[in-house]
Amino acid sequence: MKKDVDNKLDIYKLTTSEELLKYYQDWTKKNKYNQDMVNWKYTAPQETVLVLKKYALNNKCKILDAGCGTGLVGIELKKCGYSNIDGVDFSQNMLDLIPQGIYKKIEKVDLNKPLKFKTNMYDVVMCVGTFTYGHVKPQALDELIRITKNGGLICFTINEGIYEEYGFDNKIKELTNNKLWNVKEFFKSDYIVNKDVNAWLCLSEITK
Ligand SMILES: C[S@@+](CC[C@H](N)C(=O)[O-])C[C@H]1O[C@@H](n2cnc3c(N)ncnc32)[C@H](O)[C@@H]1O
Repeated sequence: MKKDVDNKLDIYKLTTSEELLKYYQDWTKKNKYNQDMVNWKYTAPQETVLVLKKYALNNKCKILDAGCGTGLVGIELKKCGYSNIDGVDFSQNMLDLIPQGIYKKIEKVDLNKPLKFKTNMYDVVMCVGTFTYGHVKPQALDELIRITKNGGLICFTINEGIYEEYGFDNKIKELTNNKLWNVKEFFKSDYIVNKDVNAWLCLSEITK
């Protein structure tokens, strides 16, 4: 029987940016988002950074945490010795919860729109927990690849419930067929353990 991921979390019902921003505004009150991530055993930050460590051997590499939220991926990156990290997200309420000293630059950015970052600006782009219901669409990968250097890395999760429905399966095939990247790792990760929601975890080397 197919797993009913669509009904696992209330936020999975939202479709517009306005609804999402309002949801995050409430979710960040009294640090509830961060607390829920601990209670739900949200493992994506640890899982992605563990995979990244196998390939990004230089701790000084320039990293963008795209959809950084409250900084959980940045915190994990810092623990592993990476220090040159920028963070972007479209929810100011989430950005406001980022601890000091994690990111060099923090910016409010909508990843579904063309980015104003320079081409080939980053060695690594992380995008964790943002390819999910009503959030960031597959087309955003084009811009994330544009701003990543040739030979650089992009590491991201895709919620299992939307992988095919939103066309991430076809987007990944398209990028591979067009030789824009080489997929190095692709597997089903634990993601949100206590809610029984998994995600595809992908790490690709940019070959454009
Ligand atoms: C589940 S949270 C994950 C945050 C963080 N990466 C983590 O792992 O804890 C998803 C994040 O995506 C952000 N987001 C959703 N749509 C976005 C968009 N169009 N542009 C930028 N950020 C977006 C939300 O504001 C939220 O912070």
